[in-house]
Amino acid sequence: MLDLLITHATLPDGRTDQSVAVQGGRIVDVQPGLQVPAAETVDAQGQLLTPPFCDPHFHLDATLSYGLPRVNQSGTLLEGIALWGELKPLLTEEALVERALAYCDWAVAKGLLAIRSHVDTSDPSLLPVRAMLAVKERVAPYLDLQLVAFPQDGVLRTPGGVENLQRALDLGVDVVGGIPHFERTMADGAASVRLLCELAAERGKLVDMHCDESDDPLSRHIETLAFEAQRLGLQGRVNGSHCTSMHSMDNYYVSKLIPLIAESGVSVVANPLINITLQGRHDTYPKRRGMTRVPELLAGGVTVAFGHDCVMDPWYGMGSADMLEVAHMGLHVAQMTSQPAIRQCFEAVTTQAAKVMHLDHYGIAPGCDASFVLLQARDPADAIRLRATRLKVWRRGQLLASAAQQVSTLNLPDRPAGTAFELPRHATR
Ligand code: FE2
Repeated sequence: MLDLLITHATLPDGRTDQSVAVQGGRIVDVQPGLQVPAAETVDAQGQLLTPPFCDPHFHLDATLSYGLPRVNQSGTLLEGIALWGELKPLLTEEALVERALAYCDWAVAKGLLAIRSHVDTSDPSLLPVRAMLAVKERVAPYLDLQLVAFPQDGVLRTPGGVENLQRALDLGVDVVGGIPHFERTMADGAASVRLLCELAAERGKLVDMHCDESDDPLSRHIETLAFEAQRLGLQGRVNGSHCTSMHSMDNYYVSKLIPLIAESGVSVVANPLINITLQGRHDTYPKRRGMTRVPELLAGGVTVAFGHDCVMDPWYGMGSADMLEVAHMGLHVAQMTSQPAIRQCFEAVTTQAAKVMHLDHYGIAPGCDASFVLLQARDPADAIRLRATRLKVWRRGQLLASAAQQVSTLNLPDRPAGTAFELPRHATR
């Protein structure tokens, strides 16, 4: 007898009327019309069953601190970094853990079951690192938390920056981070990329750097990152986060850069909500969008995913752990409005994000973890359009969260009693 059988599910690849059989926390079968006894059977009624959402770029040590000790007045990246610097001396491990756990509650309710979080290693106390390692252990039964050693103030710019980052890795942080565009000079930025990639190669770690989060078209650290990934044999193990300067770069240079990124196996994570609000701040009009060249990178064969980056912190006073909101913004900013492009936006917060994070056993196929989310939506486009209600969230066969179908009651003459924002039956895509 199975532990769980989902019937009549639609999958993100378009297959309909699928049954998903679960035993021992793993998917054992996926096919139409399975009739097998199970301890629990759930009729998906044609709704979309997706693998869990994954956030490949977040800051869990800063989240839910909005307003502490004050609000970012200008709304810029640099005031955000300065504000985080004001908050750091006031942080306690208890408060950091409490805020991070509260965010993970939101995440689970939204079907977000894997988060890669950068953790600030600039302060020799490594307080955020110890707090986030404690959170990682606490949430392990329900959420995969991956930590990146992130020298927020610059690994070379901060006295003791390299040592602090090394100590964070010794404590068990998974990934090597960096912020080359925040170092004092272009040369120091490039040197930091080299040094950090060498460190990752020595220790067998993945790399994920904040790379060129700037409107400066001459901020070209992504080139060094891709070159170093190739030189050190780190293909497929390096990610460039943000890469917003690519938005402003010369087209001829980009035509040479994208093949280099593809050849080096470097993936790119754009953060649409944050890029659209933090970039272009020195512009009058026209005002640049600032997000990296997502469709062009995808066309060039680069793995591209979307991250949330910030929720209610010194940089961003919005958000609710909803990766469909991230995909929604990414779709708009990149003008990815064709049906295949909309599907790519959905993949950017599911399969592609899982690939960036090197997650094992991810997907809806036999042998994968029985981790999936039932959405109140018919397909990925509908899921993004509606930022669909997460009806049920399972991880390894266990139900972690559920919500009622969202229907608005109407009181209108000669009209239905309610609407769930579905297309009328005659309408087709
Ligand atoms: Fe970030």
